Amino acid sequence: MSDLGAIRDDAQAATGAAGDLRALDEVRVRFLGKKGAVKALLKQTGKLPPEERKGFGMQVNALRGEVQAFLDARKLELEQAAQDAVLEAGWLDPTLPTERQTGDLHPITKVLMEVVDHFHGLGYEVASGPEIEDAFHNFDALNIPANHPARDVWDTFYLTSGEIPRTHTSSVQIRTMENRQPPLRIIAPGKCFRNETIDATHLAAFNQCEGLFIDKDVTVGHLKATLEGLVERLMGYKVPTRFRPAFYPFVEPGLDLDIECIFCKGSGCSICKDSGWIEVIPCGMVHPNVLRACGHDPDEWNGFAFGMGFDRMVMLRYGIDDLRRLYDGNLDLVRKL
Ligand code: PHE
Repeated sequence: MSDLGAIRDDAQAATGAAGDLRALDEVRVRFLGKKGAVKALLKQTGKLPPEERKGFGMQVNALRGEVQAFLDARKLELEQAAQDAVLEAGWLDPTLPTERQTGDLHPITKVLMEVVDHFHGLGYEVASGPEIEDAFHNFDALNIPANHPARDVWDTFYLTSGEIPRTHTSSVQIRTMENRQPPLRIIAPGKCFRNETIDATHLAAFNQCEGLFIDKDVTVGHLKATLEGLVERLMGYKVPTRFRPAFYPFVEPGLDLDIECIFCKGSGCSICKDSGWIEVIPCGMVHPNVLRACGHDPDEWNGFAFGMGFDRMVMLRYGIDDLRRLYDGNLDLVRKL
C-alpha cells in the first residue's frame, strides 16, 4: 500500500520536474515502461494470496491511470511553454493578417476540367492533335480547297516551311476521323493561332474546344440538346439560347449558338452591342465532303461538330470583360473569382 502512495508521489514530482519533452519521456519510461515501477508492482500481484489479488490489481491500474494523467498534463504545459518562448523571442508575429493568397488553378484550367467532366459523362473522349498543322488537316479536308476565299476568314499565320499554326481545332476532327472508324464522340481542347489585332475580344493565340459526334441518323436535335446542356452546365443556370444560320465550309447546315447576354440579361448593353445576345458556339452538321475526305461514307454516317471559343466561355462564366486579363497574371482578378 505504502509503495503505491510513494510511487504516485514520486511520479507526480518527477513529471513536474521534467524540463522538456525528452525528460518527460524518460519519466514515462521510469514509471510506465516495461521495467518501470508500475510494471514491477503488477508482477508482485502473483505473489499475493488469491483473495487480495483482485483488489491490488485494481489499485495498480488506477495508479497507472494517475501517472498517465500527470504525464499528459505536463506535456501540455511544456508545449504551451515552448510556444510562449517562440512568441517571446519574437520569431512569430501573431498580429500578421491570417488571410493568405494561396495558389489556385487558372480559370481556363478550371473551365476546361469542367468541360471534360461534362463530356465524359456523355461518353466522349478527349482527343488531341499537333498545334503546327499542314494545309490538308487545317483546310483541305475541311472542305476549304486552296484558293477558296473562305481560307481568308481564318487570318492564317504561315511558317516559312509552309506549315500552319492551326487556326482552329477542327483539324483534330480530321485526324480522328482519318484514323478511326465511327461511331465517334470526341472533344478536342487546345491552342489555336490567328493573325488578329489583339483587343478585348481577340487574341492571336487562344483556346478552342472542338467537339465531334459521328454516328447513324444524327440530327440537329442531338446537336441542340448537347450544346444547350453544355451551356447550362457552364453558366450554372438555364440560360436562354438561340441558334442562327451561319456559314462554315465544313458543316451544312452551319449554325451559331448564342446565349442571352449575361451582363444585361438580354436588355442590351455595350458588351453584346445592344443585341441582348452573345455568340458562343459555332456548330453544324458535318459536311458530306469532310466525311468523304476522311474515308467514310456519308450515306452511312453523319454527325455534328462544334468549335467553342474557350476563352470567351471563361470570360462569360466569370464575368470578365476583357480577354487579355486571362493572360496578364494580375492576381487581383484571380482573387475575385
Ligand atoms: N472551326 C470553326 C472556327 O474556328 C468553328 C466551328 C467548328 C464551326 C465546328 C462549326 C463546326 O471558326
